[in-house]
Amino acid sequence: MQAPVTQRYSLLMIVIHWLMAGVIISAAISAFVIDEMPNAAAKAMMTNLHFVFGSLVLALVVVRVLLRLASTIPALPADTHPHVVKAAMVGHWGLYALMIGVPLVGLVTAFYRGRGIDFGLFQIASPFEANRPTSKFFKEIHELIAYGFFAAIGGHALFALWHHVILKDGLLDRMRPAAHAKQQGE
Ligand code: HEM
Repeated sequence: MQAPVTQRYSLLMIVIHWLMAGVIISAAISAFVIDEMPNAAAKAMMTNLHFVFGSLVLALVVVRVLLRLASTIPALPADTHPHVVKAAMVGHWGLYALMIGVPLVGLVTAFYRGRGIDFGLFQIASPFEANRPTSKFFKEIHELIAYGFFAAIGGHALFALWHHVILKDGLLDRMRPAAHAKQQGE
């Protein structure tokens, strides 16, 4: 039996989408301002904040992937070319892979640096022995894929805006909380 086609993403998927967008932006901003910090203590505080935001991305993406696998995803408009449908699917799973890969490699980088993470209420110690060259190696990979991630997010946002502004096909509404509330009320 074919799965029923729903018009919009579920409210939970919408909430986790925008929550993760905010946490990813916070992880990016905290990474870029580490070097701008005035002293070692402020640098260490900002680095830890980056670890906290990044770990939150990793925790949320696990929930999101499980939710995504268990959800019925709204189909693209019926006249969408099959190649475009395939490209959108590859693009979305590519984003999921980066949402997992970027923070995971960041975690390995921090742990090989001998750094744990202070979440305020509890701490996670590094399970590895500090190893600078290995940490440096993973840092290069982390930064490289993080830039790829930002490019992919930029492309994703541009496609969404193209649908909204140029095609005006209501695609963005499928991921808008206000649109969801309106539909529920109809
Ligand atoms: C989606 C999540 C994440 C994003 C988007 C991200 C992004 C970045 C970026 C862009 C940089 C380079 C900043 C620059 O060019 O100066 C960086 C550095 C770094 N990140 Fe992440 N990161 C994430 C998660 C994590 C996590 C979970 C950890 C570890 C718990 C981590 C550990 C590090 C470390 C150790 C550095 C090097 C910082 C330094 O040079 O002192 N990242 N990250």
